[in-house]
Parts: sequence; C-alpha cells; structure tokens
Amino acid sequence: MPNQRLHSCFTVIVFLAILALQACGSTNPPDGATYPAWKLPLDNGSIWKNCNGPSSTESSAIENYLKVKRTQEEKTGPWWKSKIVKMKAMILMHRALNIVFPLATLILLLIILPPYLVFKLLSYIKRSIFSENVAGKVVLITGASSGIGEDLAYEYAVRGARLALVARREDRLRAVADKARNLGSPNVFQVRADISKVEDCKRIIDETLNHFGQLDHLVNNAGISQAEYFEDCTEVSDLTHIMDVNFWGSTFCSRFAIPHLRRSKGKIVVISSVAPWSLTPKLSVYNASKAALISFYGTLRVEIGSHIGITIVMPGLIDTEMTSPSSLAKFSVRFCPPYEPANQCAKAIVKSTCRGDRHLTEPFWWNALLMVESLCPEALDLLLCWNFMVNGAQKERRI
Ligand SMILES: NC(=O)c1ccc[n+]([C@@H]2O[C@H](COP(=O)([O-])OP(=O)(O)OC[C@H]3O[C@@H](n4cnc5c(N)ncnc54)[C@H](OP(=O)(O)O)[C@@H]3O)[C@@H](O)[C@H]2O)c1
Repeated sequence: MPNQRLHSCFTVIVFLAILALQACGSTNPPDGATYPAWKLPLDNGSIWKNCNGPSSTESSAIENYLKVKRTQEEKTGPWWKSKIVKMKAMILMHRALNIVFPLATLILLLIILPPYLVFKLLSYIKRSIFSENVAGKVVLITGASSGIGEDLAYEYAVRGARLALVARREDRLRAVADKARNLGSPNVFQVRADISKVEDCKRIIDETLNHFGQLDHLVNNAGISQAEYFEDCTEVSDLTHIMDVNFWGSTFCSRFAIPHLRRSKGKIVVISSVAPWSLTPKLSVYNASKAALISFYGTLRVEIGSHIGITIVMPGLIDTEMTSPSSLAKFSVRFCPPYEPANQCAKAIVKSTCRGDRHLTEPFWWNALLMVESLCPEALDLLLCWNFMVNGAQKERRI
C-alpha cells in the first residue's frame, strides 16, 4: 500500500513535470497553434523563451538531448520501420534485376532477332519499291543557301517537288532557287529568316502555307559549327547560340509545322550528325546539340506515332562550307577522314526519306565508330586524343 501511494505520487509528479515542460516549451507557430517542445525548431533556443530558463550551455545540452530523442523517435516509429523495409526490398529487387533483366533481354533478343531481321528486310524491300513520289509536293528546307541544304534543294527539284528555301543570305538563296527551277521544280519560294529566332520559325511555316497552301516535307538542315575548347571559351553565353540554331531552330520549326504535316501525312527530316559518337574535340557544344536532336526526334516519333514520318540523318564528314579548309584549319589534326561530296549525301537523304527510313548514317561506314564507342569507349578516347590533341599546349591538356 505505501508502495502504491509512492507510485501514485511519483506518477503525479512526472505528469506535472511534463505539463510544465510543455508549457515552457510551447511557442506560437505561424498559424497560432501550439506544438510540443520536442517538435520545436531546436536551433534558436526558443524552447526557453517563455520562462527564465537555464543558461546557454544548459540550454544547448537540453536541445541536443531533445534532438537525439526526436531522431530516435523518428527512427523507431512505425513509419520509419516500414520505410526501411521498403528500401531494403527495393535494393534487393534492383540487385536481382541487375542479373535477371539483362540475361532475360539477351535470351529474348536471340529468339526475336532472326524473325525481326527478316521482317525488317522485307519491309525495306517493300518501302524501296513503293517509295514516296514527291512530284508536286511542298518541301521546306532550312539552310538551303549552301552545302547539304543547297544540294537537297536540287535533289528535290529533280524529283519535281515545289520548294520553300530558307536561310539568311538572300543572294545565295536566289541563286539556289534559280538553279532549282532549271532542274525541274515547278515553284520555288524563298524566305529570308534566322531560325534562332522563334518568331522567324513561325513566319517560315506561315509564309510557306500562305504561298503553297500545304506542307509535305520539313527538312531541318540549317546549322552552325564550333571550333574552340570548352575551357577556352571566355564568353560562355555565346555557346547558347549554337543550341539556338542547331537544336531550338529545328524543334521550333517542327512545332509550328506539325499540324500541317499531320494533315498531309508528311515527313520531318532532321540533319543531325555522327558527332554525338565521334566526339571530336573543340566541338563539345555542337556535338551536344546534335545528340539532343537525336533524342528529341526519337521521343517525338513515339509521341506522334505513324502520323508523321521522321528520318534522322547522321552525316559523316561532308564537303561543304562547314568543312572548308579555312574552317578545318582551326582543328589540329593528324589524320582527316575522307569527305563525301554534298550532292551524294543529299541524294542518299532524299532517297532514305522517301523510303520512310527512321535513321540514315551517310556514308554508312561511320556506323563502325558507333560500335567502337559503345563497346570500347576508352579506345575511342585514345584515338581521338592521338588524332586531335596534337599541338603543344593542347597536347599537355590530356596526355
Ligand atoms: N558538313 C559536314 O561535314 C556535316 C556533318 C554532319 C552534319 N552536318 C550538318 O549539316 C547541316 C548543313 O551543314 P553544311 O555542312 O551544309 O554547312 P553549311 O554549308 O555551312 O550550311 C549551313 C546552312 O545553314 C544556314 N544557317 C546557319 N545559321 C542559320 C540561321 N541562324 N538561320 C537560318 N539558316 C542558317 C546557312 O545559311 P545562311 O548562312 O545563309 O543563313 C547555310 O545554308 C548542318 O546542320 C550541319 O551541322 C554537316
């Protein structure tokens, strides 16, 4: 009995102590409500602000104690336990998937690949025989004043397509338009525009629609290059212009063209490059802009489905203004891969587009580099280093 009384007394004292602590520790949160002391922000000592509490050292000791208590409570609570169980299950699942998934995929591929390759071959033959006839169709080409774009204009002209040619240099566009008419295009329309400006991208599509009333192929070809090590670039904001032309110029034009291409069941041609896997030094942002195009249009193809055909072209080294001797002089190089004439490249692009290909690497042999990049990237790094980092200071950078 005395024991029981003692126990009751002790309980009442503890209860009162807790109440006192709560009263001292209560503060006014922003919404006017109060909350228990251990949930207070502990770093400002506010727990003691309503009473003449302990000294600052005592205060920090108590705060530390409460902090530990709080952490322990959180760590031992049911929410925390279930979280730990879930995390452990996730880790186990990923460990299992790391082994099972690649193996299962490999086996599945071995089964599926032979019939799939036969299907692809038959589909290729069918698409080659029933290739699209572009005579009378409307083709818009950006960057048509020189290089690949110029030769694309001639290739489409020979096939009887009507052309909308876009670039900034009007005199060059006029000359290309005249030659395209002579080669057989029934109607050639020129638009002077800078595709790095979104309003120009919209205007290009609007003016083409106003002139022809339809759009069948959009060829996103315009692009600019780079010739500087990334760390040497002092005006980093200049680099965004490469993205503005090469990536945003292409995607904005496509955005404004999509409703019209849907109507005509048309096609988008994108001139990317082998650059994303040939990783040439001094072209870091250019390479990235071309990689972005591949990823963007791959995704767009999934979003749009079969309504609009998308052909992503990855040219190798093509003989154009971009690869003129004066442009290449900015690169120190031991060995320069062989060029392909721009007209050969243009022919392959139009053929591939009319066939409805998803990808084209032109010339084909550049695909070998993709294999090296995927299977032994270190070897490619060494090769690129040996080939491009040849001059004094540049050499010291990497070797
Ligand atoms: N040559 C190669 O080895 C190679 C390899 C892979 C990929 N590519 C790609 O192929 C495409 C064509 O290049 P190219 O070799 O034919 O070079 P290019 O002869 O220099 O042609 C580039 C074209 O883009 C136009 N252009 C540039 N900036 C523009 C802007 N802001 N607005 C509108 N048009 C613009 C240029 O016309 P204006 O200056 O008159 O505007 C020119 O017609 C580029 O996307 C390039 O990245 C080339």
